[in-house]
Amino acid sequence: MESSLESGPATVPVQAVGIDVAAERARTPGAPLAHHFNAAGAALPTETVVQAVVDHLRLEERNGGYEAANARADQVEAVYRNAAALLNAEPAEIALFDSASTGLRTIIEALRLGRRQRLLVSRSSYVSHALHLMSLGRERDVELVVVPNAPGGAIDLEALDRELATGGPAVVCVAHIPTSSGLVEPVVEIGALTRLHGARYLLDATQSVAHLALDVRAIGCDALVTTGRKFLRAPRGTGFGYVSKDFVASLTPTAPDVRGAVWTASKSWELKDGARRFETWEASIAGRIGLGVALGEALALGSGPTEAHLVGLAGRLRAALAGIPAVTVQDPPDSPSAIVTFTVGGLTASQVNERLAVRNVRTVSVPATHAQWDLGARGVEAVVRASLHVYNDDSDTMALVGAVTEIAQGV
Ligand SMILES: Cc1ncc(COP(=O)(O)O)c(C=O)c1O
Repeated sequence: MESSLESGPATVPVQAVGIDVAAERARTPGAPLAHHFNAAGAALPTETVVQAVVDHLRLEERNGGYEAANARADQVEAVYRNAAALLNAEPAEIALFDSASTGLRTIIEALRLGRRQRLLVSRSSYVSHALHLMSLGRERDVELVVVPNAPGGAIDLEALDRELATGGPAVVCVAHIPTSSGLVEPVVEIGALTRLHGARYLLDATQSVAHLALDVRAIGCDALVTTGRKFLRAPRGTGFGYVSKDFVASLTPTAPDVRGAVWTASKSWELKDGARRFETWEASIAGRIGLGVALGEALALGSGPTEAHLVGLAGRLRAALAGIPAVTVQDPPDSPSAIVTFTVGGLTASQVNERLAVRNVRTVSVPATHAQWDLGARGVEAVVRASLHVYNDDSDTMALVGAVTEIAQGV
């Protein structure tokens, strides 16, 4: 890592590991307009993804929504194939949702958790999921256990092992990467433990799909959910889930929709095979087509090169930020992810965020109210989050490090 703090902003050289950053910028209209570090919120889409959405809306304008969907049925089917290919799943194991939260809620509700069942969750859990799980704990007498972290910040595998060995049947729910730091949970080891104890394993991969290389068979999760708008660079209002073919047959949606079931006689119905039993008829078809294109682009880039590139770049950015007096990097050491969180002494995260925004650097402030089991437990009120993607180049990282240096000096 080259640092030139004495002579001005540090530089974070972009050494593409199989990623052509210039080409990524050329196909991302938003890239030159600002220093965008919010892939973990909503990433900048490519022009091709946006064009596919617009083209479909134009087709709906001319033909009508149902007719347009019929005409593009092959493109919608491609979404399942691409999503399955990205995760090493089968297309029948994929369900499309409007968000990761809808996906997880739908799958958890289908588990019909009740008395004496145990829900073991990681401290990395996302706020909306935590709120749902806490409601289940309160209203259905489900035992909710927040598994402690090991000293490095990830879930304590020994504590998880002990919890899994105790009491009744368990469901384990973990976020691969949280909203509040660059932490990466040991998802393969968690999978091995859940299999050993016969528990069910639900993985929130909202921040890791199209960011890290993922293989649901290697991880051994029963279900996984993710969203479109983050590292996948797909339109807002899209998401999908994986439900393994062994698991799906045991799940009954609480409110089957015409898309997921057939009403066979006056008081009977049959659920569709596979994960599509969780889907709803109504959806943004344009959004789904955009999701399919974004998935195709993620596959073409390759998850291995994407991960290597993003993790390397984020590591160099953390090192540069850590060299600025008054800045504290808040991620666990050597976090292998593209999410970088930090605080600046004497300023709130919102103040840093606002001062970065006037310098055309886009980050977000993540408050403890979005991550009580993580930030709240660490006693951190809020962090500034800078999340990178393949369109971020030297000019971006230099602008961020330079702006944070100036802001920190002005305190
Ligand atoms: C770790 C994590 N899980 C889940 C979500 C929720 O995703 P969605 O808004 O698509 O429901 C987020 C959103 O920031 C997240 O960071």
